[in-house]
Amino acid sequence: MKNLKIAIVLIAVGVMGLFAVNFYSQSYSRFAISSSDFQSNGERIYFTATSNSGKPIISSIGAMTMRGGMMSCAACHGADGKGGQGRMMMWTFNASDIRYSSLTSGIEGEKPYTDELIKRAITEGLDSEGKRLEPPMPVWQMSDEDQNDLLEYLKTLK
Ligand code: HEC
Repeated sequence: MKNLKIAIVLIAVGVMGLFAVNFYSQSYSRFAISSSDFQSNGERIYFTATSNSGKPIISSIGAMTMRGGMMSCAACHGADGKGGQGRMMMWTFNASDIRYSSLTSGIEGEKPYTDELIKRAITEGLDSEGKRLEPPMPVWQMSDEDQNDLLEYLKTLK
């Protein structure tokens, strides 16, 4: 009996230890994002939805709101910005090609985007013609400076 109790205590401590390690590594990886990991602030935003300025970047999909770092452009539009089919939970969706050259050339007969219209798509969720973009494209809140840095980064995607 005594051995059983000791075993239970040891297992409990072990489980708590696992949680602690897991928590530590998660928070560590979140906080370990640093400006030196990326060549520009725009690149950092594209991949991590965090800014060198430390200002929060917030995304909302419908009623679901996330703070920066939870979801990034790259997660849906790909590291190369070419988009394609993505999956979220039970749901498949088609993320657009958001390379600057594609957005501004009006692929698929859409009105070509301008710089201002690209920023509007990101922060208001409207396409170049003013129609609502479909979820799961989030609506983003970020500073003007971060919007401009992100736009500059989209221009580098070939
Ligand atoms: C959870 C997935 C997801 C994330 C994260 C996401 N997008 Fe999107 N995005 C989409 C989908 C899906 C569409 C297509 C919506 C539609 O067709 O109506 C889209 C559309 C767009 C469009 C409009 C293109 C068009 O077809 O008119 C732009 C611009 C855009 N995204 C930029 C971004 C940027 C920049 C980020 C990061 C700050 C981002 N997206 C993050 C899924 C996502």
